Amino acid sequence: MSAPLLSLRDFRVSFYTPNGVVQAVRGVDLDVHPGEMVGVVGESGSGKSVTFLGLLGLLPSTAHISGSATVNGIEMVGAPNKVMRTVRGKQVAMIFQDPLSALNPVYRVGNQIVEMIQSHEDVAKKDAWERAVDLLNTVGIPQPKARAEQYPHEFSGGMRQRAMIAMALANSPDVLIADEPTTALDVTVQAQILEVFQRIQRELNKAVVMITHDLGVIARVADRVQVMYAGRAVERAKVDDLFASPTHPYTQGLLDSLPRPGQSVLQPIMGSPPNMLQPPPGCGFAARCKYATNLCSEHLPELVPFGNSETACVRIADIDLSRVEV
Ligand SMILES: Nc1ncnc2c1ncn2[C@@H]1O[C@H](COP(=O)(O)OP(=O)(O)OP(=O)(O)O)[C@@H](O)[C@H]1O
Ligand SMILES: [Mg+2]
Repeated sequence: MSAPLLSLRDFRVSFYTPNGVVQAVRGVDLDVHPGEMVGVVGESGSGKSVTFLGLLGLLPSTAHISGSATVNGIEMVGAPNKVMRTVRGKQVAMIFQDPLSALNPVYRVGNQIVEMIQSHEDVAKKDAWERAVDLLNTVGIPQPKARAEQYPHEFSGGMRQRAMIAMALANSPDVLIADEPTTALDVTVQAQILEVFQRIQRELNKAVVMITHDLGVIARVADRVQVMYAGRAVERAKVDDLFASPTHPYTQGLLDSLPRPGQSVLQPIMGSPPNMLQPPPGCGFAARCKYATNLCSEHLPELVPFGNSETACVRIADIDLSRVEV
């Protein structure tokens, strides 16, 4: 397999707050290869956004980052701002969780893409504008010429998402990170946007990270999936394997809580994630896990190969793997 375009090793983010240190990301590993889409799932607060905002150097100064995060082999942790700025946009781009806050309301959409292009390349405005229109076309915006002249408020939610994708593609980055890009959209528009991502990934051979808490999205588009819980990766597998035989109790709980036809009562995961100001020394999921024993509270479990997955669970040998019906 080719070298990964994006690579995280023991990646950590802590926030220094008046109440103490929030250990938001606690040692995450991840590789994403060209032409591959990796889904990152996990419930709210599990550290999905912070991981990738940290990688891009987009967190406030209260954030302390350690470990390693490379893009195309360039180390981002501790990199000078100049390097960060060059890599950001040009080699890796992020589509943010909230498109309205990322688009500037007082600039035409076309101009925002032009600015993005010109920040990395010495291109005449007219040429950059043509490329902006092409990009809007690529992401499936109808009448892209006319739309480029409009302001963000004249776009629907789905079109704003597409405009964000167009901006992220402006400098042909090798790695695209999409943070909940379809959460606020109806299913038809969601399907169209996911198709745009798949085209980018396959036809342009990009590496895509799809952050979402929607397992349906992952099932539809991702090749592999990394499940996050309390700032750690608890399971990693190919999508088909994860859905066919989830191994970690948290992943099983996630799949069990998906609505199914003919089922009147959903089975949510009871309890809530730990307080990241004082995360437990052992498995973060132990307090909610029916398999937990004293052993689980002693050490943070690492991901280890199990069947077709990698799972961070010391009780893995005793887990009922036939339980989940998907
Ligand atoms: N600036 C900050 N200062 C302190 N803590 C923060 C800050 N930003 C994020 N956090 C904390 O970091 C943890 C991870 O947050 P993150 O935004 O990565 O969650 P997420 O998995 O993306 O959740 P969601 O699905 O809701 O988007 C949370 O506990 C959050 O409260
Ligand atoms: Mg988030």
